[in-house]
Amino acid sequence: MKICTGIAPVNIAVIKYWGKKDEKLILPMNDSISGTLSTDEMHAKTSVALSPDFTEDKLWLNGKEVSIHQPRVAVCLSELRKLAQQKKSGGDMVHWKMHICSENNFPTAAGLASSAAGYSCLVFTIAHALGLDSSQVSHIARQGSGSACRSMFGGFVRWRALPSELEGKQSDGEESEDLRRKQSEASNAEQIISEAYWGSMRVIILVVNDQAKSTSSTDGMQRTTLTSTLYTHRVHTVVPERCERMETALNEKDFATFAQLTMQDSNQFHACCLDTYPPIVYMNDTSHAVVRFVHEFNTVAGGTKVAYTFDAGPNACLYLLEDSVPLLLSTLVQYFPASSEISVPYVRGLKYSTTPSPLQLP
Ligand code: DP6
Repeated sequence: MKICTGIAPVNIAVIKYWGKKDEKLILPMNDSISGTLSTDEMHAKTSVALSPDFTEDKLWLNGKEVSIHQPRVAVCLSELRKLAQQKKSGGDMVHWKMHICSENNFPTAAGLASSAAGYSCLVFTIAHALGLDSSQVSHIARQGSGSACRSMFGGFVRWRALPSELEGKQSDGEESEDLRRKQSEASNAEQIISEAYWGSMRVIILVVNDQAKSTSSTDGMQRTTLTSTLYTHRVHTVVPERCERMETALNEKDFATFAQLTMQDSNQFHACCLDTYPPIVYMNDTSHAVVRFVHEFNTVAGGTKVAYTFDAGPNACLYLLEDSVPLLLSTLVQYFPASSEISVPYVRGLKYSTTPSPLQLP
């Protein structure tokens, strides 16, 4: 028997992924960029046991046995086994059944990137158990949950959409299968900025509500691609240029530009959700109060010191530099008294804190 345990981090997008060209392969409509948090606080943990004596694959999520036949889990397992066979890695273990236990140490499905951490951890741990190079399997994590491919790397990470020369061109039979494989392998994530390069970057997560969201990302983005005209403009005109400007801002450690692009991208993503029909509303009154707070803070501080971004939920992620943390936190607790419980564990790479209880408006 072989047993491996892995831990994987959450990532928070600064240029958002929203919408797929291919639902099955999870090929995104646009490139996206995110920061990967340290694993010290929020993380997924997966243990996998492989044994010649197991008669079937099994999966436990947060302590409860769930079906291993969910399509996204099944595809990750079969792709990893296929790759191990191709690379002649893992020996007989490729044919052994697996028992997998996975858990998140933070709320699941609340828009806090739980599926990103979960699938990246599952793929990372199994790849490791089968002797595969985990830096070469982000395209497999992507097939579990799109954003999971970005959690396979630290620092700032860019997930690239399919190059145009590989788009379309569907045909039948072997040729088509070969194209699908090439398409799948071509859309993967890569680190663009290491954790150490901009070591003073911090992330603070304000938990406004830790309940599961009412519209899943998968369903929400499907509806947006079908109904939002603003989204068409976003994907074709705005995001390609914004990704380039974001990479430049990161390379130049230009916080003001980084922050402005981050906030604009979050706002446009939520505008697309509102432009979806029927509309999708992820942010609530407290989220909007945090937006107002950040803009007021930046005005009073005499420059852009903090950026907010919101994923598919009401919780705010604030990006800021280390020297702004004390002033931000002391001002925040005056505006949102319940946030006085915020703790700031200083950890490696991108650092963050979480509020244990939902923020309340005064
Ligand atoms: C708003 O990766 O959860 O967080 O690929 O359908 O599993 P699926 O979606 P998922 O979507 C994340 C959307 C987002 C933006 C982002 O992380 O880029």
